[in-house]
Amino acid sequence: MSAKIIDGKAFAATVREKVAGHVARLKADHGITPGLAVVLVGEDPASQVYVRNKGKQTIEVGMASVEHKLDAGTSEADLLALIAELNADPAIHGILVQLPLPGHLNSDLVINSIDPAKDVDGFHISNVGLLGTGQKSMVPCTPLGCLMMLRDHHGSLSGLNAVVIGRSNIVGKPMAQLLLGESCTVTIAHSRTRDIEAVCRQADILVAAVGRPEMVTADWIKPGATVIDVGINRVPNGEKHKLVGDVDFASAVEVAGAITPVPGGVGPMTIACLLANTVTAACRANG
Ligand code: GUN
Repeated sequence: MSAKIIDGKAFAATVREKVAGHVARLKADHGITPGLAVVLVGEDPASQVYVRNKGKQTIEVGMASVEHKLDAGTSEADLLALIAELNADPAIHGILVQLPLPGHLNSDLVINSIDPAKDVDGFHISNVGLLGTGQKSMVPCTPLGCLMMLRDHHGSLSGLNAVVIGRSNIVGKPMAQLLLGESCTVTIAHSRTRDIEAVCRQADILVAAVGRPEMVTADWIKPGATVIDVGINRVPNGEKHKLVGDVDFASAVEVAGAITPVPGGVGPMTIACLLANTVTAACRANG
């Protein structure tokens, strides 16, 4: 039997529509246009594509988009000065510093210099702590998008076994916190996990966020499980490249109950959630 394909592209379009509705009301009722500032340091091609997409979609939902493209050699002091300016700017409600930063910049220091109320990535240590203690916070966009798709598919997640493969600060750890908040029994698996296939086969919900092309094959998946594939890996395809996830879709789709494709699954939800977080930040800033 073939799994239900969870259509992240269509879901993201409905999230963006809702965001656009909120933005229109904020403008009409309060004279507020939510503003998102994106800071890109250097010329990493993948980051340039993400930043361009973010800017385009921000404008499409009626928000203000500000892009700061800085030279790869920008000093930490100059970057911190820009962030201080954006923190103080009342027209800017969300600030995102595109990662990874060039090696000479201390990412933790830079991220923690963002006003936590404007930290639409949810990476500031205050937001990490708030999420970890179940308090109101900015929630990282990719795990938030995954959770929205899971809730939509399952309704309640309470009591389900969830396995998150990957322990990054951006996806794995916050994903695990969110699932715990939904009363799942959560396991974080990673490169040192023993018999990782057997661990994953216990999962009712399997979230793969490791960045290894097609690592998760059908024999890792409990029949009927929901599989969320966070991976976006470029692999050679003849003369060209193609995008594949961390899950071997062709085999997994035969075993899973539901699965997100790559592309068209988690990816579109990430930017939609960034827009949603920016509206949330604008609402909170204005009481
Ligand atoms: N680089 C890859 N994913 C992300 C993300 O979600 N936020 C930021 N700031 N940089 C990223």
